[in-house]
Amino acid sequence: MASLEIARLGNPLLRQLSEPVDLNCLADPNSEIQTFIEDMVETMKVEGGVGLAAPQVSRSIQIVILEYEDNERYPGHPEIPLTVLINPVITHYSEETAEGWESCLSLIDFRGLVPRSTKVVVEAYDRQGDQLHIEAEGFMAVVLQHEIDHLNGKVFIDRMTDMTKLSYLKEFDKYWAEEKVVDV
Ligand code: NI
Repeated sequence: MASLEIARLGNPLLRQLSEPVDLNCLADPNSEIQTFIEDMVETMKVEGGVGLAAPQVSRSIQIVILEYEDNERYPGHPEIPLTVLINPVITHYSEETAEGWESCLSLIDFRGLVPRSTKVVVEAYDRQGDQLHIEAEGFMAVVLQHEIDHLNGKVFIDRMTDMTKLSYLKEFDKYWAEEKVVDV
């Protein structure tokens, strides 16, 4: 496994629609795409993210990974087991929204208050190419919306409705630190 370089805002790949993965490429466990998924997992762990989308490591293809283990830094969020989503699509967004502080490995040092649907439904495939149907709420729903946005060339600041709530990390710690953060 190798840790990959994170593409930061300004890299045009972060602003492109990514291509669907050919599901036939998933069958061989030694295929290039499976090695790439392993590298994404390694990179997410090294960088300390809750999620990672392939465009964030400069591959414009529709792969998202998520994993969250409860820790002291962000106590209280429910754990998310390691999840690999191929060609994910959000098929339903709840009308109800809630605001939460988000950050992003591609916008390192920034945090922003983002309104998100509290529930989503996602259709995707797993890394073996089997169909997945996910109904998520709360923290998991936010992470899914953030990561799948990356596949559509969107980053969290595009979803903000109040840009006065965009903050450098240092200032966040000083003025907003009591609020919960989703580090994705
Ligand atoms: Ni992100």
